[in-house]
Amino acid sequence: MNVLTNKNIILGVSGSIAAYKSPDIVRRLQDLGAEVRVILTASGAQFITELSLQTISKNPVYHNLWDQQAELSMGHIALAKWADVILIAPASANTIANIVSGMADDLLANTILASNCPIFIAPAMNQQMYAADSVQKNLNTLSGRDVHIIPPEYGTQACGDIGDGRLPQPDIIAQQVAKVFNSGKLNGKKVLITLGATIEAIDPVRYLSNHSSGKMGMALADACIEAGAKTTLVYGNINAKLNPKARTIPANSAEKMYQVVMDNIADQDIFIACGAVSDYAVKNIAKNKIKKSDQTLTLTFYPTKDILKSVCQLKSKPLCIGFAAETQNLVKNAKNKLKNKGCDAIILNDVSRPDWGFKSDTNEVLFLTQKSSIKITQNSKQKLGREIVKIIAKNFL
Ligand code: PMT
Repeated sequence: MNVLTNKNIILGVSGSIAAYKSPDIVRRLQDLGAEVRVILTASGAQFITELSLQTISKNPVYHNLWDQQAELSMGHIALAKWADVILIAPASANTIANIVSGMADDLLANTILASNCPIFIAPAMNQQMYAADSVQKNLNTLSGRDVHIIPPEYGTQACGDIGDGRLPQPDIIAQQVAKVFNSGKLNGKKVLITLGATIEAIDPVRYLSNHSSGKMGMALADACIEAGAKTTLVYGNINAKLNPKARTIPANSAEKMYQVVMDNIADQDIFIACGAVSDYAVKNIAKNKIKKSDQTLTLTFYPTKDILKSVCQLKSKPLCIGFAAETQNLVKNAKNKLKNKGCDAIILNDVSRPDWGFKSDTNEVLFLTQKSSIKITQNSKQKLGREIVKIIAKNFL
């Protein structure tokens, strides 16, 4: 697994002779595992063709804010939500000034305004232009807004001048971008995450379960690993690829998941209960397949052990983050779970929605503590995972 695997990157190419390096930047990002889509500004298109970038990126190149077809398939809002990072390389003086002022006169500027992901800017221009007061002030302003600036290199320029202004080599740019996913926010921490659906046998053939795919839990695991945590996954029935950097332990039933978690929790710093654990299991599981008959069938269920609550009650408990999967009275029910289970935070999601929650690649959540409530609006589970890790690191560590 590469450092940018599963990461979506928008490469904005603006007007500079250095735009000839942009296909190579796409390649270097792809080498690190990223999926890349290119937004080409009108000035950028003077230096590099759409066809080259489309061929290398294997995606359509976006350039027109008013293209109805593009808006239908992936408009600027969808592009902004899709991106895990926006990289502008080369960034012209004009594009930099536009971003500083919040001008929204082309697709790239609009996408940047509509996005909350990390932004990287690699300025490339004539050395005198780069040294100009206005450009330097603009770059300082962007730095102050947490935009990552990849400084240009010193050397001979296309115009014959010698100085700062050359776009760094594509592999250096790609490496700089990759660093953002290795935040170190959970360095030295151990995290145990439950994920997926438990399966409660009725007989050797049939079972009781739920719709969890494990995608939300896996996205959290990826984010924890990215942030430097040693991560253990206790997983039920899942439809998601396990991160090979995690220690993984299967645990299909609620009872098994309880045992595995309790056996492995002692040295953990953080417990995230994302597993969709059955609240009930079948009493007296039939040894053989229950035969069909015309009579009604009655099964008796007993309540399973509450894993999250049990971990919260441990003498030296880790930081405990639960989930609340609700379909009604969302906030009230989630707050009750926060209190009754005794966890430090609970992440509420509405699982009655067909467009997020169970199985879907997206989710929308409310991160609730006794004192605060932070909404993370609908986005990919990968992005949500990273946001949740950020909130945990900021508020609890
Ligand atoms: O897996 P996906 O398809 O990506 O979907 C993600 C999800 C909707 C499953 C996930 O975001 C989620 O909400 N997981 C928690 C599901 C759940 O069981 O919620 P609950 O409200 O029933 O339980 C509350 C909390 O108690 C949860 O943290 C749960 O893990 C925990 N619990 C519940 C019962 C039990 N016996 N032991 C527990 O630890």
